[in-house]
Amino acid sequence: MRAWMLPAGSDGFDKLYLEELPDPTPGPGEVLIQMLAWSINYRDFAVAAGKYFGGALKQPAVPLSDGAGVVAAVGPGVTRFKEGDRVQSAFFTTWEDGPHRMGPALGDGMAPGTLAELVVLPESGVVPMAESLDHGQAACLPCAGVTAWNALHEGPRPLLPGMRVLVLGSGGVSMLALQIARASGCEVIATSSSDEKLERIRGLGAKHTVNYKTHPEWGAWIAQHLGGVDKVVEVGGAGTAEQSMTALRTHGEVAMIGVLAPEGGPNPRALMMSAGTMRGIFVGSAAMARRLNAAIDVNGIEPLIGARFKFEQAKEAYAHAWGPESFSKTVIEL
Ligand SMILES: NC(=O)c1ccc[n+]([C@@H]2O[C@H](COP(=O)([O-])OP(=O)(O)OC[C@H]3O[C@@H](n4cnc5c(N)ncnc54)[C@H](OP(=O)(O)O)[C@@H]3O)[C@@H](O)[C@H]2O)c1
Repeated sequence: MRAWMLPAGSDGFDKLYLEELPDPTPGPGEVLIQMLAWSINYRDFAVAAGKYFGGALKQPAVPLSDGAGVVAAVGPGVTRFKEGDRVQSAFFTTWEDGPHRMGPALGDGMAPGTLAELVVLPESGVVPMAESLDHGQAACLPCAGVTAWNALHEGPRPLLPGMRVLVLGSGGVSMLALQIARASGCEVIATSSSDEKLERIRGLGAKHTVNYKTHPEWGAWIAQHLGGVDKVVEVGGAGTAEQSMTALRTHGEVAMIGVLAPEGGPNPRALMMSAGTMRGIFVGSAAMARRLNAAIDVNGIEPLIGARFKFEQAKEAYAHAWGPESFSKTVIEL
């Protein structure tokens, strides 16, 4: 089989190389998946650059956490999957259900990655695909989709119809959050650095949009002019958290997810004023992925793919996802 690899000590996605490897076979409790599609997440740039939690890769590794395909074979003892099932990867291979639990996370150099033609995962790290999606759409979900779902529908204050949700920027997590929130009967406010992208986001159902470059006080503007929001899908981090807290209305929640804007020292004063909450999110469990897929099938949500690339074009796909034209999810297909 062919697999894309990053070398030990990789310092950027330009170091990706295509390798021929022996076909893997599933052991007890494992599922062999013929992968058909993958998607890129922001963390994949950090892994390639040697800046993810574990630091530089200690040995060559297959990258990416997200992918979808068809079960090619199952090992002894596997009961939930059979050959031919349409499946997607679970970001954490051992967090099946229940409260927050970190474990092996695909594609970080410590656990296997998915950007190969054949991948072996433990049964606990495999999720049946939503029936209504193709493999490219399903590949958008393991990290970005489950994170958006967790932010909106899990935790102590799940969304209710009529609530108002703020999503930041036009990346994968934010656009999936927009789609989930709209399907949940909620109003969406969105920010972006680009007026052109904001127009596209309004076309997806956002009621109000704000350019965060021309309105650096976008949180205060949303609080004053629109009356605030109940949830913020906070993908910026230190550099955006203060505006996100300022945008909250009474008892609102900032779902703290990302690090797109790492510089800053947010003053949490606004959280007091709204009696608000800040909740940390780290993707989610396989059970959350199943709940998301059920909501997708019932509501006809189609994850939005901004660009598609062939397997052989993985480097071009990374470059596109990193560049200014990137919108929502970038997908690689076999
Ligand atoms: N905690 C978790 O479990 C978890 C899970 C998934 C992702 N994340 C994190 O969440 C963040 C988003 O991930 P992603 O995969 O959705 O990223 P992505 O698809 O690469 O998002 C890129 C987009 O983010 C927007 N952006 C950049 N800087 C921004 C800023 N200062 N304010 C608002 N938007 C900004 C830009 O939108 P415009 O071009 O429209 O301005 C850009 O196009 C990343 O930091 C990622 O590491 C965390």
